[in-house]
Amino acid sequence: MHSSAPDVTPPARTTLSGLVGNTPLLRVCEPLSPAGRGFWAKLEGFNPGGIKDRPGLHMVERARARGDLEPGARIIESTSGTLGLGLALAGMVHGHPVTLVTDPGLEPSMTRLLTAYGAQVDVVSEPHPTGGWQQARRDRVTELLGHHPGSWCPDQYNNPDNTTAYTPLALELATELGHIDVLVCSVGTGGHSAGVSRVLRQLYPELKVVGVDTVGSTIFGQPARPRLMRGLGSSIYPRNVAYEQFSEVHWVAPGEAVWTCRQLASSHYATGGWSVGAVALVAGWLARTLPPQTRIAAVFPDGPQRYLGTVYDDDYCAAHGLLDAPPAPEPDTIGRLDEKEVTRWTRCAAVVDPLTLTRAEVPA
Ligand SMILES: Cc1ncc(COP(=O)(O)O)c(C=O)c1O
Repeated sequence: MHSSAPDVTPPARTTLSGLVGNTPLLRVCEPLSPAGRGFWAKLEGFNPGGIKDRPGLHMVERARARGDLEPGARIIESTSGTLGLGLALAGMVHGHPVTLVTDPGLEPSMTRLLTAYGAQVDVVSEPHPTGGWQQARRDRVTELLGHHPGSWCPDQYNNPDNTTAYTPLALELATELGHIDVLVCSVGTGGHSAGVSRVLRQLYPELKVVGVDTVGSTIFGQPARPRLMRGLGSSIYPRNVAYEQFSEVHWVAPGEAVWTCRQLASSHYATGGWSVGAVALVAGWLARTLPPQTRIAAVFPDGPQRYLGTVYDDDYCAAHGLLDAPPAPEPDTIGRLDEKEVTRWTRCAAVVDPLTLTRAEVPA
């Protein structure tokens, strides 16, 4: 006789955290590459919130296990949105209130969604004079941590758990593809490119890793400028970026990402935001130019919904001059990260940590 409900472990995909991971893989080819050539896109937009559900859960779980995050304590983090969704999910799964510090560039729909998921959204009003919005958000996080005793900040830019969170993603790719020659990732905190490439390199020592950044981002040694593209890029130097892993970096401009996002939408249905467009532009070029048998994997961090008022809005794009011309078929090439300031799709095959460049060499 059973006196209560049977004590069984539910199958993974019926729990909230079990919905994260095991995302689909799609073959992308024409029109981004000729027939018979293409790349594999890992569709992280199929996670409940996007790619950052993985580090959101993992960083919280590791901090709880270490005792850095006490039961019920507040989580406070700076985010441009996607990690906010992951932390809102982790807060719900593990019972923590969540405060997300963001800036006026966050899409109103994201603020509403994060609020609906129970997070408090705190918007900074002014950029930091030299460190931009990102530094302003980080300063506000420090202030809020002081107001909430026992609160904890994951510090996604420097927390190694933000990279190890992606071991499952790497193993999913390896299981699905068997062999990978080239990995293409966008870079913001550096988390997913570092985490996936370190695991894949152990399996495939010849792996080439191609980083994708936005123009106006400091991550790979360019000067900080105001940026339209969000998710990828930074106005600081995140320590999670695994510079030693990259064979080359590409900087992409917003109009080039918009064109690629729209091409993807009309040809493959699967598309996404700024980082997806930028990654697909670069992965398509690699598929066109590398030997046809090269196996290329690209990470698409999210889906298109968040970008209906930007990337997919003709008025927004026209107002920002983003619909003027399709991207050039080839990137420009520079020999050093700081050779010149880049404003269109450009690549550099000599990647170093910009903080190791001598002061005189860092662009003003
Ligand atoms: C949509 C999107 N794409 C790309 C990235 C960059 O990923 P990472 O921070 O792992 O470098 C982020 C990071 O927030 C993101 O939100």
